[in-house]
Amino acid sequence: MQILILGGTAQLGRAVGSAAVRAGHDVTALARGKSGEVPEGVRHVVGDRDTGGLGAVRGTTWDAVIEVASQPGRVRQAVAEVEARHWVYVSSVNVYASVDGATDESAALVEPLEADSMSGPEEYGAAKVACERAVLDGVGSDRVLVVRPGLIGGPEDGTDRSSYWPYRMSHPVERRVLMPDAVSQPVQLLDVRDLAEWLVVCMGQGVTGVVDAVGEETTLGEVLAESAALANEVPEPVVVDAQWLAEQGVNPWMGPRSLPLWLPGEMAGMMRRSGVAARELGLRHRPLRDTLRAALADAQRRGDRPWAAGLEWKDERDLIARARESGRRR
Ligand SMILES: NC(=O)c1ccc[n+]([C@@H]2O[C@H](COP(=O)([O-])OP(=O)(O)OC[C@H]3O[C@@H](n4cnc5c(N)ncnc54)[C@H](OP(=O)(O)O)[C@@H]3O)[C@@H](O)[C@H]2O)c1
Repeated sequence: MQILILGGTAQLGRAVGSAAVRAGHDVTALARGKSGEVPEGVRHVVGDRDTGGLGAVRGTTWDAVIEVASQPGRVRQAVAEVEARHWVYVSSVNVYASVDGATDESAALVEPLEADSMSGPEEYGAAKVACERAVLDGVGSDRVLVVRPGLIGGPEDGTDRSSYWPYRMSHPVERRVLMPDAVSQPVQLLDVRDLAEWLVVCMGQGVTGVVDAVGEETTLGEVLAESAALANEVPEPVVVDAQWLAEQGVNPWMGPRSLPLWLPGEMAGMMRRSGVAARELGLRHRPLRDTLRAALADAQRRGDRPWAAGLEWKDERDLIARARESGRRR
């Protein structure tokens, strides 16, 4: 098949490119090249979609197009200008109006964004709804697969949500590790390689529909234990409660000064989505440890680039000392 990736230089787009090349397809990726390089075997068409870059991929009827953009204007333009027999749009579980867990694709969505682009990350879910509609309405639902991933991790995780814990547990000197008292919190971590391989199979089979794609349900405790198992020496957990962490200004989930993957309160429902439909369509999961091992290896290869999530060593050391003094350590 002739496959076009609109994207292809960041985590998922690169993984799809590699998987599609391995499966014997002829793969082209359109991107500026700012996020990275395309993988080996993928033809890179360098172009900026905001300044007419799509022109270079017009004139071919692609067997399949996979679009990862989140700006509705870009997606509308692609649907209008690019010809393909089958479209795959990569959306997100952020399209859902509620974070109540254990629901499926029939759950209510947020209202779509009307503007062509988001004015901030808080509009991400609305933008994804608008992008989905642009593809479904513009191409026709009989030729479109919309996939709504949950948390994606493993290699090349630019958010560091899946790399933080294995990297932290493997630190050769800082054996004490600050952790939230939330071992039973649900986690669904989807390995980017599993998602990419499955998307390529879906393209080959012309699968259509709207499907959530989430990792198998596990717990934060399991992620911490599997991360510790990858370390050469046994880490020493320093477990503190959520309220104390909030008082210290430590953020949950992601970003600077955070304890990644930790979702206090009702937000934890975000990682309890039903993955039944995707499983029925063939999505399979490798063991959690493989995903964490790959994220760790990748982070170790990367060296000293600033972390997108987690705590700085010195900050963590200070927090551990304060937790001991305040008696808030569990
Ligand atoms: N990470 C998660 O946990 C998660 C969860 C749910 C859903 N998702 C969705 O999964 C997908 C992830 O895709 P991804 O990993 O490949 O990352 P991405 O950051 O969404 O990739 C964006 C791609 O578009 C290209 N691009 C950006 N601006 C462009 C422009 N003006 N002209 C041409 N190309 C442009 C980028 O390449 P250049 O910068 O090189 O141009 C890059 O290849 C996204 O749809 C995301 O919303 C992610």
